[in-house]
Amino acid sequence: MNRIYELTVEAPPGDIITYDPVRLADAMRIDDPSRLAIEAMGSRALVTVYPSDPLADVRLPDPELLAMDEQGRIWIGRYHNGRKVYVQLYDPASGSAQRLLVFGTTGAGKSTLAQIILAAMKRSGIATFYGDLKEGQSAPEARGNVDWSVYSQEGVMAQLHTAWCVMKDRAARYAAAGRSKFLRDRPDPLLYTVIDEANRLLEKGAPYRDEATFYIKDIGRTGRSLGVGIALLAQAGHLDELGGSDTMRAMLKEGEVLLLRWTSSMMQQLVADGLLPPGQKLAPIPKRAGATRLISQFETEADDDRPGTQGTGYRISGPYPGAKMRAFNVGTPVPTEGLDPEILTLYGDGPPAALEKAAWPVAGRAYVDKLDSDAAYAAAFTPKDGEEGRGGDRARGRTSPAPAGGTPQHSPQRTIADRVMAVLETVDGPMDAHALLEAVNADGGRPVKLGSIRNALSDLR
Ligand SMILES: Nc1ncnc2c1ncn2[C@@H]1O[C@H](COP(=O)(O)OP(=O)(O)O)[C@@H](O)[C@H]1O
Ligand SMILES: [Mg+2]
Repeated sequence: MNRIYELTVEAPPGDIITYDPVRLADAMRIDDPSRLAIEAMGSRALVTVYPSDPLADVRLPDPELLAMDEQGRIWIGRYHNGRKVYVQLYDPASGSAQRLLVFGTTGAGKSTLAQIILAAMKRSGIATFYGDLKEGQSAPEARGNVDWSVYSQEGVMAQLHTAWCVMKDRAARYAAAGRSKFLRDRPDPLLYTVIDEANRLLEKGAPYRDEATFYIKDIGRTGRSLGVGIALLAQAGHLDELGGSDTMRAMLKEGEVLLLRWTSSMMQQLVADGLLPPGQKLAPIPKRAGATRLISQFETEADDDRPGTQGTGYRISGPYPGAKMRAFNVGTPVPTEGLDPEILTLYGDGPPAALEKAAWPVAGRAYVDKLDSDAAYAAAFTPKDGEEGRGGDRARGRTSPAPAGGTPQHSPQRTIADRVMAVLETVDGPMDAHALLEAVNADGGRPVKLGSIRNALSDLR
């Protein structure tokens, strides 16, 4: 039987359909839940029963199809009903870059999806900074196929800082040229910073948590209209493990969000954050597809050779948040020694796009020499003799960003009193010294300590 059954279910208006996919499958006598697709939205639901798992093998017909289409979308996989899953990296109408978040537990397929996205970026002429906080294990084929790859927290900080400086530079150049928006490749390329295992950068206690949060937030907010995008791949139990929940929630709601296999606490958070519409429940993704059955002690136990579900998930920011999808099945099925030739084919030959030459002076040596680790950090964050008497000490673990070289908005000449006044002008109500400290340290200027804020306040008084 090769029939597909599609049932439309409707509850009385005002009622919201909720369901338990396992119970539903059981009630319908379907022993393999991967044959069942349920999309519920408010009082309506669509239930599809397939003769076999429709996502068992999702193939990319040709790597050339990874390049961005004229709507700025890349094709990453298929929904259960065969429709294409797209992720938008560029909005040609507004000239803006995108923010992208991919969540999932270990082994869910995040890094493989990252390779599909990185290959699509290369094929679309996007300049990409790629940081892998799993020391390069996540996507070894990315090296040489992205503009700048790093494998350390210091390297990622250097990339974030560089992308941020490029963003500021573009803002100034475009303003001087009287341009109101970014236009892809006219003349500057889209620039993306892609961070795999971003949780290691952003979790509580991580050495650069606050600084990284600042950059990601600022790039997420301001970079869009300057062609500077950001993509994070993370395994996170709670959203606030990702550098402060407010930032991430706001970004989540507006960007592209893909959720691969999750934990229950992740799901609770997403629901609590209003990311999923009410009544929208996602059928959980088991580790393996296929039917399970009870096995009596009198039977011989068969090997569990059911296929894995890596790459299966939901694009929850899209028009079909409840439709199960799967990223393309890529790579050689049997692990190879060294780099995977099939993954390399995804990227294609030739060098990746690079950052516009005009921005190289602000990007600095960390970028030009493609540095990593401490060398990258030192080059990006030129140590300055600090107002706090930090001397030339390294900035590890400081609580605020210290952009190197100053920027038009935050020239080093600005006093702390100036910066305090600038913050106070933007708030209506009273603000205590701690809140003021946080706000001043978030302005992108040199980091200050509480004592300096108090001194500035008494001077101002
Ligand atoms: N889209 C995919 N196509 C083929 N194999 C995949 C895919 N996604 C994941 N895999 C397989 O599952 C393993 C774990 O995936 P990975 O992307 O490393 O997960 P994560 O980064 O979420 O821990 C990979 O080594 C690969 O063998
Ligand atoms: Mg990974």
